[in-house]
Parts: sequence; C-alpha cells; structure tokens
Amino acid sequence: MKKILFVITLLSLVGCGSSKEPNVELVQNMMDQPSVKAQDYNLEASDRRANKMPPDHVVAIGAHPYKFKGKPKEAGEQLKNPVPASENIALGRERFETYCMVCHGPKAKGDGTVAPKMMVTPPSLLTSKIRGWSDGSIFHVITDGQGMMGSYAGQIIEKDRWLIVNYRRQLQKENKE
Ligand code: HEC
Repeated sequence: MKKILFVITLLSLVGCGSSKEPNVELVQNMMDQPSVKAQDYNLEASDRRANKMPPDHVVAIGAHPYKFKGKPKEAGEQLKNPVPASENIALGRERFETYCMVCHGPKAKGDGTVAPKMMVTPPSLLTSKIRGWSDGSIFHVITDGQGMMGSYAGQIIEKDRWLIVNYRRQLQKENKE
C-alpha cells in the first residue's frame, strides 16, 4: 500500500515542473476536442484561420462610423467642438505628449525627436495656416489622417481627440511660430 501511495504522489508531482509537455492526465475525458483555439490554425476552414473576420458592414456596439472619412472640407465646416476649452487641459496635454509630441514636438513646432528621421517633416502646428483652421479640421486630421500622417482614431477616443485640439489652441496662445 505504501508503495502505491508513493507512486501516486510521484505522479502528481510530475505536473509541477516547468516542462512545456502536458501533465500525465489520468482521466482523459474531454482532453481532445474538435474546437479550435483563437489565433490557431483551423485546417477545415478555407482560409485556415481560426479567427473569423466580421461580416461586411458590421459595427461594434457603441461605435459609430466616422461621417467625414476622406472629407476634410466638410469636417472642418460641420464638426463642432463639444468640449469647452478650459476642460481638463492636463489630460489634453498628457494625450498630446503621448501621441503627437514625438513628431510635432513638445510645443508643436514640428521638432519632435523622430522628425529629422522622417521623409516628410511633421509640420509646425503653430503656423498661421493651422491657427486659421477650425477645431473640426484639426479633429479631422487626428481622426482620418492626412498624407503621410496616419489616423489616430484607433488609439485615441473621440473625447480625448477634442482635448488634444483644445490643448493645441493653448500651445498656439503660449508659443510663437
Ligand atoms: C509619426 C509622426 C506623427 C505623429 C505621431 C503625428 N503627426 Fe501630425 N503630421 C505628421 C506629418 C508627417 C504631417 C504632414 C502630413 C502630410 O500632409 O503629408 C502631419 C500633419 C499634421 C497636421 C496638418 C498640418 C498641416 O500644416 O497641414 C496636423 C493638424 C497634425 N498633423 C496634428 C497632429 C496631432 C494633433 C497629432 C497627435 C494626435 C499628430 N499630428 C501626430 C506626422 C505626425
């Protein structure tokens, strides 16, 4: 009896090592299943992917597609900034310094750390051209991108994009071109 107990203890310890091999499983029921894991291959699918693309025109709950995709002019004219200029400037600054500063620089002068390495130098956002832009136009560039600058809609939620727009106004007030 003692010997059997010893063997059982030993077997249960086998599973404690750092080995990537599966443990010795005494009860095999439900170990093998036809289900596929996320990110795995599905040999039965025509594209061999376990993860499926959503069908066309599907929208995530709570998401609403951007109305002005590819329409900077309309965005500039029609989008109204819903966030008061004085609201949460600290967060606007934090978001600007996280997402824009590497290229446009800490004061938006176009002198971010990666700017010299880029094919198209990120422009200053203190120019009279940009000073004359509406809030909607700036929001549009962050949301839809412009030329060499990609869209940041996937990284920055809508409210925070407006906070960045407001913070840039603040930078324009405090800094010359
Ligand atoms: C990876 C570098 C990079 C980052 C990060 C970046 N930009 Fe840009 N941005 C550019 C470049 C390059 C252009 C010029 C694009 C073009 O017109 O081809 C540009 C253009 C712009 C323009 C239009 C300027 C003009 O004179 O036409 C605005 C406004 C702007 N960016 C704002 C932002 C804001 C706000 C953020 C942060 C959310 C940001 N950018 C993040 C590189 C960047």
